[in-house]
Amino acid sequence: MAPVDVPVALLGYGTVGAAVNRFLHENADDIERVTGYHLRVVKALVRDLSKERDFPAAAGILTTEFAEIADNSEITLVAEVMGGLDPTHDYILRLLRSGKPVVTANKQLLAQRGAELFSTAQGAGVQLRFEASVCAAIPVIKVLRESLVVTNVHQILGIVNGTTNYILTQMELGASYEEALSEAKRHGYAEMDPTEDVSGADAAAKMAILATVAFGSRVTLADVQFEGVEHITSAHVSAAKQMEMVIRLVGRATLVDDRYDVRVSPALVDRAHPLASVEGPFNAVMLQGDAIREITLEGPGAGGIETASAVIADMVSIIGTTGTGFLHNDACWRTLDQLPAGELCSPFYLQIAVDDRPGVLARVAERLAAHGVSVARLVQAQIEGGAILHVISHEAAYGAVDSALEEIGRLSESREIAAAFPVISRRGISELGWA
Ligand SMILES: NC(=O)c1ccc[n+]([C@@H]2O[C@H](COP(=O)([O-])OP(=O)(O)OC[C@H]3O[C@@H](n4cnc5c(N)ncnc54)[C@H](OP(=O)(O)O)[C@@H]3O)[C@@H](O)[C@H]2O)c1
Repeated sequence: MAPVDVPVALLGYGTVGAAVNRFLHENADDIERVTGYHLRVVKALVRDLSKERDFPAAAGILTTEFAEIADNSEITLVAEVMGGLDPTHDYILRLLRSGKPVVTANKQLLAQRGAELFSTAQGAGVQLRFEASVCAAIPVIKVLRESLVVTNVHQILGIVNGTTNYILTQMELGASYEEALSEAKRHGYAEMDPTEDVSGADAAAKMAILATVAFGSRVTLADVQFEGVEHITSAHVSAAKQMEMVIRLVGRATLVDDRYDVRVSPALVDRAHPLASVEGPFNAVMLQGDAIREITLEGPGAGGIETASAVIADMVSIIGTTGTGFLHNDACWRTLDQLPAGELCSPFYLQIAVDDRPGVLARVAERLAAHGVSVARLVQAQIEGGAILHVISHEAAYGAVDSALEEIGRLSESREIAAAFPVISRRGISELGWA
């Protein structure tokens, strides 16, 4: 039987857009054999027609006029791979309203303005799919929405930014933060302006999308507390190593009694924990739920062909499930409250520089105890005229740790709070090593 012809358009023909077109050309036979569809790019929106492209488009495909896509009734499906908030937001709304399903790889747009996009798609009765917006080729959205539909996923732990994971693993090998960042740029793992990655904003947008899908309630970028890796030093990395741990930028989405907490921060991860073995530009997402206990998905979280593969998978899913398909576009079916800031609990690693004066240790321990932060391990290392206290606490609320550290910072002997990281470990905290 002849394959069904599906003319598609791309908004954007950069790293991902060109890779989508290349895949559709080079793998056309495979796609047709498996799906019975022949997807072909008939238009692709760009800014600059004269730019050199990785996989040049055939004559007449590239355009700078959005109307050539929006007003073309032949086009049945559009992939948005141009990025940015504006004019992308309006373009997608216009396409959805005109009945064209859309696939998007745009995490920031979804994490900031998802509500309007999904309600527009729902109203127009067309699909808006977004697998490529989180962890590129790792099919985590599909697993959450389809495979785990009856599972109450209550925690997600993720390494969802490859750039920062590469930087942190290079630092473990002895590089400084600056050296690791320039290596990441040299290999193409970091953009020339890496702010979105190193500040944690990229990971925060992805965690907002994952939490929305997993918990069924809208979580936006503004609801995610995030901190990046810019302040991680070689001293932090070697302190972690001494405790048989590694530093990772960890996204954590937690559901506690129908209230949620979503955050991204550097964390100390026990070497025996699965997240510790995620190295270089790789991503991993651990889903924990009632029926499944735990599922870990790991793989390349970025890259042109990896992202293109997720875009094409969504395109195939759309044409295989006409109309809105069996899924509602919007994963949200309820409105959950956010856990009050600081209530979430975790064990912590604290690094505190103090003057070496009698009684200082007692005063630090007293401030921690006053806020209910109980010390599990404490190691004191002498430095010039002072000491560094390495503290591992038992489970304590983020807010309690912040308040205790604020008071410790005000002690006259206190020099610097050099680190305060949550610890991720399956061993009992008191069993953690200290070389
Ligand atoms: N690259 C990855 O590894 C990766 C991974 C996951 C998700 N994503 C997401 O995928 C999307 C695309 O990423 P990318 O790396 O392919 O970006 P890119 O290489 O910068 O390509 C962007 C494309 O969009 C076009 N474009 C941008 N703004 C436009 C405008 N206002 N009007 C018309 N065309 C416009 C550009 O045109 P010109 O070529 O003429 O400049 C270019 O072709 C982003 O949302 C990104 O977050 C990327």
